[in-house]
Amino acid sequence: MIRSAMPNRHLIANWKMNLPPEGVGPYMEAIHRAASARVSIAVAPPFPYLKETAGKGGDLIIAGQNCADHESGAFTGEVSPGMLRACGARAVIVGHSERRSLYGESDAVVARKLSAAVAAGLTPVLCIGEDLRTRDAGHVSRFLADQIKAAATSGLEAAKEIVLAYEPVWAIGTGRNASGAMLAETVGQIRESLERFWPVNHAKSTAILYGGSVTPENTADLVAHGAIDGFLVGGASLDSGKLLAILAAMGRD
Ligand code: 13P
Repeated sequence: MIRSAMPNRHLIANWKMNLPPEGVGPYMEAIHRAASARVSIAVAPPFPYLKETAGKGGDLIIAGQNCADHESGAFTGEVSPGMLRACGARAVIVGHSERRSLYGESDAVVARKLSAAVAAGLTPVLCIGEDLRTRDAGHVSRFLADQIKAAATSGLEAAKEIVLAYEPVWAIGTGRNASGAMLAETVGQIRESLERFWPVNHAKSTAILYGGSVTPENTADLVAHGAIDGFLVGGASLDSGKLLAILAAMGRD
């Protein structure tokens, strides 16, 4: 997604299954010049919009929201990482909690998708995150370590770049976001797990984003502790004005 010596903060708009076709052009027009020297911006549209967003993306990165764990074959309804690339994507979200919970993607499936994405030359944006029961039981660190360990698949070291998105399930689409202080603690635990399980060439360099009810209003608190490298935004990202307001609140220099 981002070459070295390029921006060290990231903002990803995950449209999920939203925006009508006629909304794509105006949205891209509003944001296509927004990427800066410090913040890279990626848009993850539904598959049918990939080519259009890539064509109108300017400096923006286009990402898939999901990919198959195979490159081709009899997999009705699936889209391979190579096909995403051919449509202009440079990154792909893997293991989003909606994929895990609604479509039954296990850690093993997520690991295979990660491998396939890396093999196709896409930057994977691996999503991890605990549910409320796990947090209330005090098992966050162990849960996230297990997800990271399961994803530390063979071939990962060949990736040019890996991005990790910490998206606690209880914060996604709920209006209830993590606090900056909570993120500082959890991201520290994630870093420890990356050091333990990730290939050495990625343990330190993997960017860690936060996702879960990010808005222009809570962005400043979320970045205040300096623990995270950016955001994966769902609902608020559907409004280009809000996305740009989040970008502004991240600080541009
Ligand atoms: P919301 O920003 O709507 O909570 O969604 C977060 C998310 O799932 C981004 O991938």
